[in-house]
Amino acid sequence: MTSRIERVHAREVFDSRGKPTVEVEVTCAGARPGRAMVPSGASTGRFEAVELRDRSDSRLDGLGVRQAVRNVCTEIASAIIGLDADDQAEIDRRLIELDGTPQKSRLGANAILGTSLAVAYASAEARGVSPVIRFREIWDAIVGHVEIVLDKLGMRMLLPLPMVNMISGGLHAGRQLEFQDFLILPVGATSYSQAFEWIVTVYRRLGRVLIERGHEGILVGDEGGYGPKLRTNEEAIELVVAAIEVAGLNPGDDVAIGLDVASTHFFEDGRYRLPSVSSSPLTAEQMVDLLEGWVARYPIISLEDPLAEDDWTGWRLITERLGKRVQLIGDDLFVTNVARLREGIERGVANSVLIKPNQIGTLTETLATLRLAIDNGYWPVVSARSGETEDTTIADLVVATGAGQLKVGSVARSERLAKYNQLLRLEETLRTDVGYLGGSIFESLRS
Ligand code: PGA
Ligand code: ZN
Repeated sequence: MTSRIERVHAREVFDSRGKPTVEVEVTCAGARPGRAMVPSGASTGRFEAVELRDRSDSRLDGLGVRQAVRNVCTEIASAIIGLDADDQAEIDRRLIELDGTPQKSRLGANAILGTSLAVAYASAEARGVSPVIRFREIWDAIVGHVEIVLDKLGMRMLLPLPMVNMISGGLHAGRQLEFQDFLILPVGATSYSQAFEWIVTVYRRLGRVLIERGHEGILVGDEGGYGPKLRTNEEAIELVVAAIEVAGLNPGDDVAIGLDVASTHFFEDGRYRLPSVSSSPLTAEQMVDLLEGWVARYPIISLEDPLAEDDWTGWRLITERLGKRVQLIGDDLFVTNVARLREGIERGVANSVLIKPNQIGTLTETLATLRLAIDNGYWPVVSARSGETEDTTIADLVVATGAGQLKVGSVARSERLAKYNQLLRLEETLRTDVGYLGGSIFESLRS
């Protein structure tokens, strides 16, 4: 055994919203510690793995994670000390078994994910390989040598097409707008660095446009997107289109629009509450009509959670109507869970899945969902949470797996830039070992 786990330690640290979170350090014999920090969502799905917080404790409004930290330092440490950090699948299997609950509520998905990721970093440290190479090794082991239908995605290391927040609403910006994210996808860029430069330019131009039109230009939401007070969701789309044009780029061909509707969070009693659109709540069919109209009017290429997490019928309808024209991403719907994604595939629902490691709780399960997506022609989009840290795992992970797309929030606030900057480093250091497909992954939507 080359990478025997010798020490497991955890501490409480703080995320980008000032909320406590778990940091784990795992150390192999003779090596430096591997370390990972766990992110945290605000618009969480009901089917996600459970974040353990010290609810009964008045300290930090019950948000502390001391029990999760204790679980790592005691039960989890005893279970994995002495094991081989190079065997990620076995470590994750043990963690799942040790917890023993369907949603990791006993030890906490935060305790478990922190450990799972720190083990991968510890293995990298023990053998002197970089995190991206370690994640690639783990991905190769999961993909295995069976005949699989991995298409362009997943085959080799790829820099991702970034999907970046320009305007924030919903739970991330005081519910100023009903929809959560108004994003851009620089589909016409031919490299990651060019894509990123376009994004930064559009973001800065949008700030200027907002100020010129008398809005709160530079006030930002949780993920760094601007948080102006607008009357309607459509106004936000129009502002983003205007900013793309002011940047000298072509809306649609160079830079397309994405929306994270996050509709679960305004779904009540089987209806979608959208006061800015209609005084009476919308049925799923009316919701699909509305979005179809926008897809016709604006250069929209991606819609996330257009229907709620348990509205399978509505999801089916939108997939039939728009599934060949836009990327339809299930976030709250699939929660990075193999069983839920499999159900979606069987029901012919969505064509893309958001991949958030902390929704499921181990690295192995995250990659299993990613693989199931690619095997079935669903676009995977690796994603951050609205509460983030300086941890750069998802940047290395998206490159290592060749998933093709990354969603991290906006280009302001360093917990976001930590990921984008890591990608710039990887672009430079991996050189010809890494490819870039960019917007060409959407070929099937254009034909
Ligand atoms: P969350 O938001 O991290 O608050 O869940 C991100 C998203 O909905 O994509
Ligand atoms: Zn989402």
